[in-house]
Amino acid sequence: MKMKAALVTDVHKVSIQEIDRPVLKDDEVLIKVKTVGVCGSDLHLFRGTHAFRKPPAILGHEIAGDVVEIGKSVKTVRIGDRVTVEPQYGCGDCEFCRQGLVNLCNSKVVPGTAKWIGVFVQYFNAPEKTIYKLNDAVSYKMGTMIEPLAVAVRALRRATVKEKDCLVILGAGTIGLLCLVVAKQMGYKNVVCTDTAEFNLAMALKHGATLAINPLEGDVVAAVKKLTGGKGADLALIAAGASNILDQASACVRKRGEIGVVAMITEKIPFYSYQIVFNEQTMYGAMTYATKDFEEAAEMVNNGLDLNDFITQTMDLEHTQQGLDVLSQKKDSVVKVMIEL
Ligand SMILES: NC(=O)c1ccc[n+]([C@@H]2O[C@H](COP(=O)([O-])OP(=O)(O)OC[C@H]3O[C@@H](n4cnc5c(N)ncnc54)[C@H](O)[C@@H]3O)[C@@H](O)[C@H]2O)c1
Ligand SMILES: [Zn+2]
Ligand SMILES: [Zn+2]
Repeated sequence: MKMKAALVTDVHKVSIQEIDRPVLKDDEVLIKVKTVGVCGSDLHLFRGTHAFRKPPAILGHEIAGDVVEIGKSVKTVRIGDRVTVEPQYGCGDCEFCRQGLVNLCNSKVVPGTAKWIGVFVQYFNAPEKTIYKLNDAVSYKMGTMIEPLAVAVRALRRATVKEKDCLVILGAGTIGLLCLVVAKQMGYKNVVCTDTAEFNLAMALKHGATLAINPLEGDVVAAVKKLTGGKGADLALIAAGASNILDQASACVRKRGEIGVVAMITEKIPFYSYQIVFNEQTMYGAMTYATKDFEEAAEMVNNGLDLNDFITQTMDLEHTQQGLDVLSQKKDSVVKVMIEL
């Protein structure tokens, strides 16, 4: 049986094609896709800057839908369940998989690759172990937000600094704004957000940021220093790519503070390392999520966390190209673009 799929066929070019419906393995379920999200990392594929994915490739990894078929050995999922998918699974027995760190497994399988189709399709197959059920009150769109929310959960859970007086989030796109939401729930007193788009700055203020600064117009480091009485922030999260972003993060952070890198910056950018030495700062990376982060994000959404504000555009599959263009060029006020099938 055939189905429609949205593929990036060339740089900045999406085409809708008919492909074969996946054939289910015994441990898999088949999902009739309802909504999928356009993610910053889809933009990397679209722009030709992705670290390993090259066109042609099916887009997407953020999904919600209905289970319409189950494999022979599936026990915990039923036909009719409304679900989302943790879009990664590991070998199951390496040192990382055994600790629930599927994100670090060397044999990790992710959508949009030779081993697993992307989610911008009418029917998506996924192993039972990657399935999370949605409560009846949770919309498909909110279910689709669980994946980027899990990225934000991990970005914050990776920090070891105990103080929560001030957090700086560089970049208030979907990931930055979701970090803001998670940080407020975790009890950060002051959160300073930056973005080059006015709409995103307004969104950050609406969702509890103490300050929202355009780095092209204001001095981010000076504002953070002023807010913290000269001390600096406890933690800075990098959720945007720019050539000065590492230095900016480090300059915002206090002595013994931490810098979490979430943005996928695939080109080399300069970094003044003396600053991190002089202040004994720590830098960490946050790669997608461990399974427990995804569980936490799913629980937050199933408990009623409302992220509807961040869904600024909804389109159909035929308009996938337009959805990517909107996010890529930031012409309109945009945070998260969703595709409804
Ligand atoms: N580590 C992970 O597992 C993971 C997961 C998802 C996304 N990401 C990465 O995180 C980054 C953010 O993702 P997103 O979905 O929020 O993307 P996005 O495009 O929605 O957001 C990026 C934001 O940064 C802003 N920006 C641009 N230049 C800036 C600057 N100099 N200072 C401050 N803000 C600036 C943009 O206006 C935009 O709002 C991307 O690089 C993405 O690939 C990483
Ligand atoms: Zn994503
Ligand atoms: Zn493994």
